[in-house]
Amino acid sequence: MRKFLTTTAVAFTMMAGIAQAAENVEVLHWWTSGGEAAALDVLKKDLESKGISWTDMPVAGGGGTEAMTVLRARVTAGNAPTAVQMLGFDILDWAKEGALGNLDDTASKEGWDKVIPAALQKFSKYDGHWIAAPVNVHSTNWLWINKAALDKAGGKEPASWDELIALLDKFKEQGITPVAHGGQPWQDATIFDGVVLSLGDDFYKKAFIDLDPATLGSDKMKEAFDRMTKLRSYVDDNFSGRDWNLASSMVIEGKAGVQFMGDWAKGEFIKAGKKPGEDFVCMRFPGTQGAVTFNSDQFAMFKVAADKVPAQLAMASAIESPTFQSAFNVVKGSAPARTDVPDTAFDACGKKAIADLADADKNGRLYGSMAHGHANPAAVKNAIYDVVTRQFNGELSSEDAVKELVSAVEGAK
Ligand code: GAL
Repeated sequence: MRKFLTTTAVAFTMMAGIAQAAENVEVLHWWTSGGEAAALDVLKKDLESKGISWTDMPVAGGGGTEAMTVLRARVTAGNAPTAVQMLGFDILDWAKEGALGNLDDTASKEGWDKVIPAALQKFSKYDGHWIAAPVNVHSTNWLWINKAALDKAGGKEPASWDELIALLDKFKEQGITPVAHGGQPWQDATIFDGVVLSLGDDFYKKAFIDLDPATLGSDKMKEAFDRMTKLRSYVDDNFSGRDWNLASSMVIEGKAGVQFMGDWAKGEFIKAGKKPGEDFVCMRFPGTQGAVTFNSDQFAMFKVAADKVPAQLAMASAIESPTFQSAFNVVKGSAPARTDVPDTAFDACGKKAIADLADADKNGRLYGSMAHGHANPAAVKNAIYDVVTRQFNGELSSEDAVKELVSAVEGAK
C-alpha cells in the first residue's frame, strides 16, 4: 500500500511537471539591442519563475518595421505567435481583422481599468474588450547628451532652438560629431516628432493627430523641414542605415555630442554602466518641456489554441504586476504602464519620464508619437516617413516636402 502511494505520488509529480513544461509562450519582438535585450530578460526570467517557458522570436530592426512584416507572414501561414510586441494603431488593425484574443477576465480580476491610463487603453482595448497588455510608456521628444562634451561647451542645457544650434556648433569645434544619428526612416521620423512639437503643441496636434491639410501644408511645416535640413548638417558621413543603438554608442563613447531619440536610448547608457547627471544628460527636445509624444509597447495577444491560453493569460498578468512594471522599466528606460507604480527604483531620467508623463496627461499635453505608430495607422505613418526621409536626404526641398506631405497623407488616409 505504502509503495503504491509513493509511486502514485511520484506519478502525480511527474504529471504536474509535464503540465508545467507545457506552459509556453512564443513571443515575437524587436528588442535585440543590448539595453532592450536586458529588459526583455527581466520578462523572460519573471515568466520562467512562474513555470512558463519562453520561445524567442526576435526580429531585429528598431521601431519594429521588420517585425511587423514577419508577423504578417506568420499569421497568413496560420501560425500566429502567442504574444507580439506591438505599437498603437497596429494593435487596432489586427483587432479589426479578428486576430486577437480576449483578456477581459484577467483585466477585470486585476482591476486594469483603474490603473492603466486612458491614453494606453485606447490601444489595449477594441470594441470594449482587452486585447493587449501594455508593458511601458516611452516618449520620443528627448535629447541624450554626452555630459563631458556639454561641460566643455559651457554646461548649459539648450533651452531653445537657437541655443541647440549654438551647442551643436560647439560640439563641432570640439572635433566630435555633433549629432549621432542613424539614417533609417523611423529614426528620421523620431527626430521629426521633436522638431514639429517644438513648433507648438497645437501645430503637432493639428498636423499629426488631426491630419489637417492646411497645417500639413503650412509655412510652419516648411520651417519644420528647414530645421531638419539644419540638423542634417551636423550628422557624420556614415550615418546612412546606422542602427539607433550604434548612434547611442557614439554619444556614450564621447564620439558624438547628442542623440535625438526615445528613452529606450537610456537603456543603452545604463547597460554601458553610465549614470545620468554624471556621464550623460537627458532633457526634453528644446521648446517641448511639459509636452510628451508617447508610445507604449504592448503585447498583443493572438488567438491561439485553447491549451495555450493559460500561459498567455499568465503572461499578461505577469506584465501588469506592479513589481514587474518597476523592475522592467528601470532597465528599459521607459515609464511604467500603470499609474500606481512608485518611482523609487528609477534613476533621475526615469523619475523625470514618470513625472513628465503624469503632468502632460493632466494638462492635456500628451500626444501619440507619429514616428512610433501612436498618431495614425501604419498606412499614414509610412506615407509621412517617406516624405520626411526623402527631405532629410536632400531629395526634396522643404517647399516640395510640404506639398508632398499634404498629398501623401491625403492618399493614405
Ligand atoms: C520603439 C519601441 C521601443 C524600442 C524602440 C527601438 O518603437 O517602442 O521599445 O524598442 O522602438 O527599437
